[in-house]
Amino acid sequence: MTDQQQGLRRSLTHYGDRDFALFLRRSFIRSMGFSEAMLERPLVGILATPSELNSCHRTIGELIEAVRRGALAAGALPLVFPVISLGEPYLHPTSLYLRNLMAIDVEEMVRAQPLDAVVLIGGCDKTVPALLMGAASAEVPAVLLVVGPMLTGRYRGERVAACTDCRRFWARFRAGELSQAEIRTVEGRLAVTAGTCGVMGTASTMACLAEALGLALPGSAAIPAVHAERLRIAEATGALAARLAGTDRTIRNLVSRASLENAMRVLLALSGSTNAVIHMAAIAGRLGLAFDLRTLDRLSEETPVLVDLKPTGVGYMEDFYAAGGMPALLRELAPLLDLDVPTIDGRSLRAVLAEPLGEPVDRRIIRPLADPLAPKGGLVALFGSLAPQGAILKRAAATPALFEHEGRAVVFDGLEDLARRIDDPALDVTPNDVLVLKNAGPASPARMPEAGYLPIPKKLARAGVKDMVRISDARMSGTAFGTVVLHVAPDAASGGPLALVRTGDRIRLSVKERRLDLLVEPDELGRRREAWRPPALPERGWARLWQQEILQAPEGCDLRFLRDERRSLKERDSSARAD
Ligand code: FES
Repeated sequence: MTDQQQGLRRSLTHYGDRDFALFLRRSFIRSMGFSEAMLERPLVGILATPSELNSCHRTIGELIEAVRRGALAAGALPLVFPVISLGEPYLHPTSLYLRNLMAIDVEEMVRAQPLDAVVLIGGCDKTVPALLMGAASAEVPAVLLVVGPMLTGRYRGERVAACTDCRRFWARFRAGELSQAEIRTVEGRLAVTAGTCGVMGTASTMACLAEALGLALPGSAAIPAVHAERLRIAEATGALAARLAGTDRTIRNLVSRASLENAMRVLLALSGSTNAVIHMAAIAGRLGLAFDLRTLDRLSEETPVLVDLKPTGVGYMEDFYAAGGMPALLRELAPLLDLDVPTIDGRSLRAVLAEPLGEPVDRRIIRPLADPLAPKGGLVALFGSLAPQGAILKRAAATPALFEHEGRAVVFDGLEDLARRIDDPALDVTPNDVLVLKNAGPASPARMPEAGYLPIPKKLARAGVKDMVRISDARMSGTAFGTVVLHVAPDAASGGPLALVRTGDRIRLSVKERRLDLLVEPDELGRRREAWRPPALPERGWARLWQQEILQAPEGCDLRFLRDERRSLKERDSSARAD
């Protein structure tokens, strides 16, 4: 790119006269009081997502100021602009439904405005994938800064934080172990500071994976939201963004098949959120790459779990940060990683990891490769007659006794049916049954909610049943746990085999064989298929576009036309030649 296309000269408005467009633009921006010298600087966009309906992002204002001073001191002119913000618990029907809308907003605004580089500030679950998806498609040099995780609160001397403990205490309340007054007290102790959920849920998993991909500064993922170091890394991120101007360090140029495999290893070693599988597939799809389930499954056999955090372990994100965070984890995993991948600051991952760690690693939280928490990764992919395109099980959060299980299906047709019947004392259900929820996938009107963690029917919970095999086309919160098979694809609303399951059918789960099978004769399934009807197409707006274009979970639930087929076509061509 030439100087003629940098700064305010970039992305000029079409008036049929470039000089006039620049003159007009300069006239307006001078109303902001900038000196002429300032207007000659490279422009760094600070893409911000503050919202009073996104409590996790409460500190964004001070982060913006820290990024701004870093960029200014490094010779750029920083300019802040907004995009859609997604606060996980405030959105109907689901935040995933709006992730792609936010990604479109990011892509178009980053591309349309005169930005030489951009700092992406986000954190709450869907914001980081949306930022990365949009910036990947916009092809402007971009660096991510997350808001950081919250600190823990206390309840009766016990450390607690959103949102694994939200679910744990709610399950105890449902089982009658906590009173109404006690659960109200817990409600006020779970989220006591700004920041994203305090466990290795979706937000923290995505922050760690972004750092592993080299899209954020080393060490930035786990710093608590309210820690002074969070502001220092924000300042450094602003300075880095100034240096990115004029380079080709775009997400497209940084992320490769090798770096995606590194990210898969990190996801497995973290025992991270199942939602990350969807988000990483979507980001990869924007680049014409795949984050495919069979590769994930293969790597799962070779990648141990090293990080001991909730929801599967004991620690919180503040412990992970104090233990050494991502720099310590990446050094431990280094023998399994491709270290020649580039990172956002221009160095290879090898060069980044060659720097000594400042402090000893807390081995209670980040285990050595030679002494892992579990020898194999936390996630497995399942395929079979019930999930021809795949499904996911978080092995690390499941009950080993249920890994090889055949049981009778108890089917719920959708969320309303589930809510109406799950606690009905007359529900015909035993602990050996398999709970099945359908019509909660991406093509359903429910828009793939985090409903895959079906509650244990109250009468069984009160009898002490803690876990059952649960199967759905829904997602599960990254903070949840249990023998929960998720993301069954194709989903029921697309006419996948899940749509045909009926109460009383036999279902077989085999983690050893990676199988999920519906044990019903093909003729019978054919008869059921003739009676199946897809959901009605919404009449207008985003809902209509979503339903017409939505891809399945293994493809990231992106919209079909937002994926980049260029690289896939090229790779297909070259592999065809290699054959
Ligand atoms: Fe925002 Fe969990 S609700 S990260």
